[in-house]
Amino acid sequence: MSRNMKGIILSGGAGTRLHPSTISISKQLLPVFDKPLIYYPLCTLMSANIREILCITTPESQDNFKKLLGDGSKWGIDITFEIQKNPNGIAEAFKIGKNFVGNSPVGLILGDNIFYGSNLEEYLTIDPINFKGAEIFAYQVPDPQRYGVVEILDNKAVSIEEKPSKPKSSYVITGLYFYDNQVLDIVNQIKPSARNELEISDVNRVYLEKNMLNVKKLSQGTVWLDAGTTTSLLQASQFVQTIQERQQIQIGCPEELSWNKGWISDNAFYKFIEYAPKNNYGDYLKKIWKEKLI
Ligand code: G1P
Repeated sequence: MSRNMKGIILSGGAGTRLHPSTISISKQLLPVFDKPLIYYPLCTLMSANIREILCITTPESQDNFKKLLGDGSKWGIDITFEIQKNPNGIAEAFKIGKNFVGNSPVGLILGDNIFYGSNLEEYLTIDPINFKGAEIFAYQVPDPQRYGVVEILDNKAVSIEEKPSKPKSSYVITGLYFYDNQVLDIVNQIKPSARNELEISDVNRVYLEKNMLNVKKLSQGTVWLDAGTTTSLLQASQFVQTIQERQQIQIGCPEELSWNKGWISDNAFYKFIEYAPKNNYGDYLKKIWKEKLI
């Protein structure tokens, strides 16, 4: 039995909140400062040591994603693709990805979610062999009514509501979820919501009712951004630019991550340098190569 954690990046959706920018291009391909938005959630899954990744896209945008990501082998990972025909909700990812998930546990990340923090890897360290139930991450925001809201008492979730008009708490559920293999059955039990979507909050509520939902509050040192609106997309770019320039690092750099993890050889990394773009991103790859040689 395969007990690796599989990963899904959901990059469907019409991106209507970003129209007209997303009429002809998928939201997750738009740049956040110096790289496409999808690089950030991809790197979050890679940080969780997930190497088998399914990328779910709209029918129109799939070729563009393939052009960008390929089959993942350049980063020592395996990327495959499926289509979400209509925006039927986040939880539909588990129907679309049923065969891909097989009998493994699975991590799902939304293609427009950016996580950053020095202690992020701690949250992402999950033992796929013994993993049971569901693990989700809560973050305090000033506008919880825009999200899935989780009410927490004594570090335990007590209620979950999707976009409530009167939120019971300021903790919202971020777009990164880890589930055991039961999720493939649970998604068949839930019904579409009033907005006609299979809601991920309904999946989480089933785990909550089974007493199998673990909610972790992301610490204050962790930043979570969703780049789904024009303002949040710009803020994400500004955030990435500020941190990268000040700390001389790259956020969401799959080349660096796969090399650090030993998933690609020095030779394979050197190939990136030969073809590196003549810009900050390329300069960064050259810089870390030189530093390693010293
Ligand atoms: C979705 C989920 C919501 C979650 C949010 C995180 O919202 O339905 O529970 O808090 O992602 O980004 P949507 O992107 O559909 O507005």
